[in-house]
Amino acid sequence: MKKKKAFFITFEGPEGCGKTTLITELKRKLKEGGATVTATREPGGPIAAEKIRELILNNPMGAMTELFLYEAARAEHLEKVINPALISHNWVLCDRFTDSTLAYQGYARGLDLKLIKTLNKIATQGIQPNLSVYLDVDPEVGLKRASDPNRFERESLEFHHRVRNGFLSLIKEDPKRWIRLKAFSSSAEKMAESLIAQLEKRLTGLGRKKSEKSRK
Ligand code: TYD
Repeated sequence: MKKKKAFFITFEGPEGCGKTTLITELKRKLKEGGATVTATREPGGPIAAEKIRELILNNPMGAMTELFLYEAARAEHLEKVINPALISHNWVLCDRFTDSTLAYQGYARGLDLKLIKTLNKIATQGIQPNLSVYLDVDPEVGLKRASDPNRFERESLEFHHRVRNGFLSLIKEDPKRWIRLKAFSSSAEKMAESLIAQLEKRLTGLGRKKSEKSRK
C-alpha cells in the first residue's frame, strides 16, 4: 500500500463477530506495508470518551440518555483522535461507529432513525468513513462467544436479531460503502489478507485529497 494517504475504515457487526481480532491483524499487516495506522474503538478513545463508555456499558439507563452519551463520546473521539489522525495522513481503523448507533439505538431500541442520523452528523462534523466492513454472524453464535457479557450482550435474542437486520438494511441503503464478510470463515490472518486485497481495489483513486475535501 502507498504511504501518505488517509483512509478511514469502520468495522461493524453483531456481538461476538470477531471485529477486534480482525482489526489487530489488519493493523499489523498494514504497518508491515509501511502505513501509519491508528486503531481505535467506539464508544471510547480519549479519556473522557472511555469514561462515558464505562458509564454506558455498566449502568441501566433510558434509550434517549444512552443515545446522547454515545454521541457525546463520539464528538470527543472525533475531535481528539480521529480527526487529528486523518490530518496526519494515518489510516484510521475504528471498531464500531455511527452505523452501530443506527443499528442498536435505532433499529433495535426503536429510536427515530432520522434523529439519529442528524445527531451522528453533528457529532462527527460530517466526517464519514471511506469504507465500512461488516462482519456477519448469527446472533445466537455471536452471543455464545461473549465471555464477560456487558448489558447489551444480556439483551434478548430478538434484540440482537433486530441489530443484525438493522445492519443489513444499512448495507442495502448504501452498498458501495460496505464490504461484507462472513465472520470466522477463515483465520483472522487470511481474512486480513483478503480484506487488504479488497481495500486496495476499492480505495484506488480515493486519496488524501478526496477524504480531505469531504471533511471540510
Ligand atoms: P463492546 O464490548 O465494545 O462490544 P463489541 O466487542 O461487540 O463491539 O461494547 C460496545 C457495545 O456498545 C456493543 O454492545 C454495541 C454497543 N453500541 C451501541 O449500542 N451504540 C453505539 O453507537 C456503539 C458505538 C456501540
